[in-house]
Amino acid sequence: MVAVEAISLTKAFGDLLAVRELSFKVEEGTIFGLLGPNGAGKTTTLRMIYGVLKPTSGTAKVMGVDVRENPIEAKRKMGVLPEDTGVYPRLTTEENLVYFGKLRGMDERKLRKRVEELLEVLNLTEKRFIIADKLSRGQKQKLAFARAILDEPPVLLLDEPTLGVDVMSAREIRKMIEEYASSGKTVILSTHNMWEVERLCDRIAIISEGTLRYEGSKEDLKRVAGRREFEDIFVRLVRGEVIEKAV
Ligand SMILES: Nc1ncnc2c1ncn2[C@@H]1O[C@H](COP(=O)(O)OP(=O)(O)OP(=O)(O)O)[C@@H](O)[C@H]1O
Ligand SMILES: [Mg+2]
Repeated sequence: MVAVEAISLTKAFGDLLAVRELSFKVEEGTIFGLLGPNGAGKTTTLRMIYGVLKPTSGTAKVMGVDVRENPIEAKRKMGVLPEDTGVYPRLTTEENLVYFGKLRGMDERKLRKRVEELLEVLNLTEKRFIIADKLSRGQKQKLAFARAILDEPPVLLLDEPTLGVDVMSAREIRKMIEEYASSGKTVILSTHNMWEVERLCDRIAIISEGTLRYEGSKEDLKRVAGRREFEDIFVRLVRGEVIEKAV
């Protein structure tokens, strides 16, 4: 089953076409990587899918729900880690999670248990009573990740989930993302980390200047790449250089 479908998503900011008729499908239980240089349109695409940005044209469906027609129902199906983390600066680490869990209608006991578990695994227990404003960049990022997966929604949208996170925690986050997908749930992530893409993603989309340059499986991309380094083939795809067809 298709978990997320982008249907000709387009966003113009004045004269700038940030995203141009972007279409792709993400199968349930897979990890889909969005790659592209700074300003390519990754964040804009994710924001249109999770409904904080209205597309100029086109739409997206999440678990069959159209994000423009049924934004509330669609939001319930998604957990989101936005580019700016979106944590509430005046609430403590723990309050951020508890507040969010209540908003999502989680059962109190289940919520408390889940909060403990996530604080522990992400090494945030010591910071539970600290307001989010006083957390380091990486700690805020981990808190935002915890919030995204708190009530285990069927679809996760993660905008550079390991940005600024230390090695141990990044490893933990990657492991959690992998487990998430192997339990049948779906993850879309944007990242600049080639190694992360290679390790983690089942399928990859490469965007530049708002346009889809490549979409396919990791294996296909490797086949195209041949003996080339992953990074090298990425550069050529972004530049729009002609390469032999993957499939
Ligand atoms: N609210 C906005 N108003 C005007 N222009 C915007 C707005 N948001 C994004 N843009 C522009 O749209 C383009 C795509 O930005 P976006 O943030 O989607 O890129 P990105 O691929 O996420 O880049 P990065 O890798 O740096 O995070 C950029 O040129 C950016 O300046
Ligand atoms: Mg971005």
